[in-house]
Amino acid sequence: MWSSKIIVINLILIINNTSPGVETEAKKNMKKSTLFSIAIIAAILITSCNNQTITTTEKMETKAGITKAAWGTTDGKEVFLYTLTNAKGVQVKISNYGATVTSWVSPDKNNKPSGIVLGFDNLSGYLAKPPYFGAVVGRYGNRIAKGKFKIDTAQYTLATNNKTNALHGGLKGFDKQVWEATPASDSTASLLLSYVSKDGEEGYPGNLKVTVLYTLTDDNELKIEYNATTDKATVLNLTNHSYFNLTGDVSNSILDHTLMIDADNYTPVDTTLIPTGEIKSVKGTPFDFTKAKKIGQEIAAAGGYDHNFVLNKKDSSLQKIVELKDSISGRMLEVFTTQPGVQFYTGNFLDGTISTSDGKKINQHAAMCLETQHFPDSPNQPKFPTTLLLPGQQFHSITVYKLSLK
Ligand code: BGC
Repeated sequence: MWSSKIIVINLILIINNTSPGVETEAKKNMKKSTLFSIAIIAAILITSCNNQTITTTEKMETKAGITKAAWGTTDGKEVFLYTLTNAKGVQVKISNYGATVTSWVSPDKNNKPSGIVLGFDNLSGYLAKPPYFGAVVGRYGNRIAKGKFKIDTAQYTLATNNKTNALHGGLKGFDKQVWEATPASDSTASLLLSYVSKDGEEGYPGNLKVTVLYTLTDDNELKIEYNATTDKATVLNLTNHSYFNLTGDVSNSILDHTLMIDADNYTPVDTTLIPTGEIKSVKGTPFDFTKAKKIGQEIAAAGGYDHNFVLNKKDSSLQKIVELKDSISGRMLEVFTTQPGVQFYTGNFLDGTISTSDGKKINQHAAMCLETQHFPDSPNQPKFPTTLLLPGQQFHSITVYKLSLK
């Protein structure tokens, strides 16, 4: 700001010192109007510089639809909170801690804005290890039986952090890492996050370079694009672990939401939630969501939903797989993915011990996840689509969560 003041003062001095000789009326008028113009330019410069000061202290950086705020430190690294805003004023907040979606605020049918995903407004909420609220989960989303798998003849052993199994990438998976983040576009609200997972991290082989690109479009879509490469054969299953409650209030359960999943089959599980290997028809079971029904309708018979649905889509093109509706808010969420499966989880293990930042208890079924991914335990299930990633291959997948009013 001071530098622009100095420029303006210098300009005034220069103008005063030019036009030597006798001061004619015309010269005086010219001087007056030049000084007047300079005053206006000065005002504009100083105001815009004042705005910049606000930007640097509070928001630090702006790019198309993105602001950045300091959010604390962990592991000696700086954590930031990025706010993506689209042309409709809808906002999604993302932290580089765990590449986590911390909030998604949109208007309901009465034009009242509220948040539709579980999250905290401070870093400490996440450092207390909530069950993966909004995070990117990796290197392997969901379970690997007994924390063991083989690639060719090499045997790998992971920490067993979920009873006898490995869950969501281990003790310190991608959800607990500080990612690099940078606004990615001049024209859209896009944030690119990257992370390098070292060979042997959490027991997984290969140096893995991962990027996640979040884009909030003006159609109220949150598009998530994953890319990864490795320098050694490894297994990979990336997903986003957002918990949705379309009512905008976690005091309401999600049991009255209606859900359609375009899946004729699912993968039944054993008592430790490891797939039995069978690909079973949903027909005549509580897992049939091929026609929209209330989530609560048969949840008791299902013992709570925490299952992988085998999507009907036949290839890896981006297709619509889910429609979720809530009549209280009038909101609808559609999910599109390139992935072969979706883990539908109804927050069965949420039990009121965690509260939102505004003090509301997060009870069982307060929110639900639609984790687009490969099937759990694929590294040990030869009949499931492979999750192997080899050197020279490029892992790429896209998931879109699209919000609208019905
Ligand atoms: C799993 C659940 C688990 C939850 C939180 C889901 O993806 O399927 O079993 O409790 O994540 O960790």
